[in-house]
Amino acid sequence: MTKLNIVENAARMVAPGKGILAADESTGTIKNRLDSIDVPSTEDNRRGYRQLLFTAPGAGDYFSGVILFDETLRQSSTDGVPFSKLLWDNGILPGIKVDAGAKDLAGSPGEKVTEGLDGLRERLAEYVELGAAFTKWRAVIEIGGNMPSRACLEANAHALARYAALSQEAGLVPIVEPEVLMDGDHDMERCREVTEATLQLTFQELFNQNVLLEGMVLKPNMVVAGKQCSRQNSVQEVAEMTVKVLRRQVPGAVPGIAFLSGGQSEEEATAHLNAMNMPDAMGGPLPWELSFSYGRALQASALQAWRGQADNVPAAQAALAHRAKMNSLARSGDYQSGMEQDAA
Ligand code: 13P
Repeated sequence: MTKLNIVENAARMVAPGKGILAADESTGTIKNRLDSIDVPSTEDNRRGYRQLLFTAPGAGDYFSGVILFDETLRQSSTDGVPFSKLLWDNGILPGIKVDAGAKDLAGSPGEKVTEGLDGLRERLAEYVELGAAFTKWRAVIEIGGNMPSRACLEANAHALARYAALSQEAGLVPIVEPEVLMDGDHDMERCREVTEATLQLTFQELFNQNVLLEGMVLKPNMVVAGKQCSRQNSVQEVAEMTVKVLRRQVPGAVPGIAFLSGGQSEEEATAHLNAMNMPDAMGGPLPWELSFSYGRALQASALQAWRGQADNVPAAQAALAHRAKMNSLARSGDYQSGMEQDAA
């Protein structure tokens, strides 16, 4: 197995022109995705769908890494090649979602804390054996009435930092994902306030627990108004506010920030990333790479094009490759919305 170097691999994960494909849907979430195209969620259908994604022509050009779910890391291609080997051979780092999901937080009705620390050291050792190079842990912060509470932010930040320290101990790069959800009718200013508090406490805990910032990747939400808010902001406003918050709260030692898409459409997620990667419009050079680690915003069109039919695999792979290419261009501010029509 390749000797793991977390600083080198963290830089590789956020290499210019590339991004991370989040394909780590849990068994419940992938079932929802497959239900939406009337495909039964059998182990072989899940395997086949993931194979389609990982073997899309051009995947190695646009993806620096792919995040897998436990089941997928143990699966192989139709030709019997373990997925982790298939990805390594294509120059793509395999990663693994290691959290056990967001559970109700005692004493804070309506709020969640992500679980999965018990036995994590032993699980990480196995994931190294299975070929993983990095890990992911997602904390979920909801905005509402009195939410989030300080208790929720602290509990999630603490768990993220303990997970990150354990990952680095195992030689795995942690993707630290504190997600402030888009659900709700709050405005962008409220999202800004909560995102800043979330990031501030997260980096405080990462410092407390001796996490090496050079050997991690941050996966945050963008600063956007809630989905039900009547005032939605322009692409430029979202880009400027997101960069402002990140400049305030993310140390320059972090090599890269790879955004989640969180329910944005494919084109919105690309347009926002593109605008943030125009340094002149963002007040000068940024200290970290700004990249993508999208799930839905990379897979939505591909899933619709596939619909479980073998004949549709090339069209589905082309749809994924198109999104990957658009986001790759957005890494350097070279994306234009007209490119979507050109491809259609
Ligand atoms: P979305 O881009 O669909 O939000 O998924 C990213 C992810 O990994 C969520 O944990």
